[in-house]
Amino acid sequence: MTQEAATSGMPEHFAKVADVYRGVRTTDLEPILYIRDALVGWASVRAADIGCGTGRYDRLLFEHIPDLDLICVDASEHMLEQLSGYLAGEHIQNIVTLVARVEDLALDDGSLDAVFTFNAVHHFSFLTFLAKARHALSDEGRLFIYTRTPEQNTGSIWGRFFPLFTEKESRLYTLERMEAWVAETSGLRLVEAKAFRYARKASLDRLVEQARSRHYSTFSLYDDQELEAAYRTFKERICRQFDNLDAISWYDENTMLHLAKVQV
Ligand SMILES: C[S@@+](CC[C@H](N)C(=O)[O-])C[C@H]1O[C@@H](n2cnc3c(N)ncnc32)[C@H](O)[C@@H]1O
Repeated sequence: MTQEAATSGMPEHFAKVADVYRGVRTTDLEPILYIRDALVGWASVRAADIGCGTGRYDRLLFEHIPDLDLICVDASEHMLEQLSGYLAGEHIQNIVTLVARVEDLALDDGSLDAVFTFNAVHHFSFLTFLAKARHALSDEGRLFIYTRTPEQNTGSIWGRFFPLFTEKESRLYTLERMEAWVAETSGLRLVEAKAFRYARKASLDRLVEQARSRHYSTFSLYDDQELEAAYRTFKERICRQFDNLDAISWYDENTMLHLAKVQV
């Protein structure tokens, strides 16, 4: 499947999952603490979260970064509706929401101290995103890209046991590819590429609930018949591999790219 074909059904996918999205994804604090530490000493932070979804990481950003003003950008109005209700319920007011695709995004030149993107960069062109972020960042501004590589995807419970999961998910970028794109983009410097590793435990019922909710958009790249067959095979493989179906354990991995704007 081409990248274009793989992304063409995505607006529909995110409209469908918006209501349940936060409940079926696993949210980690570690990337937020990493960002907090990288921004320590900044008296206030004006930032944007691109592909923010329903706001699970935005709430954590507000909890851990003092005096934050955030523009929450997403291509899906359904995801942003969920985000607005969620953050309002948490009494978070310093946000502006913006329905926009990265490709059409026009943030003011030099207006932001930081740009974030969590689990979304594989939905858009990496180079376009870098150019837009660099343009919007102030001198010394920081860019944080939290994602998973194809190798990290392969090592997940889904990559190991869910039929065709790694083959279908052809959108993820390798670390080498992302680092090469950063190197060829003037005005941005790679500060660090950091890997995160998480020990996970879940019941088979929870895993099946997540997959049936299509918590990863990868599941929307299957046709209905393929997906039903894959659910069955996944359950069989898990039952063969694990003795305790209430406590299946595995590791998830992610990568944070931390970039700084530099003068050219
Ligand atoms: C996997 S979700 C991640 C959401 C959120 N960052 C999180 O981690 O919970 C990807 C998000 O990117 C958005 N998205 C996809 N393509 C986009 C694009 N071209 N421009 C902006 N947002 C996009 C989707 O609507 C979706 O909300």
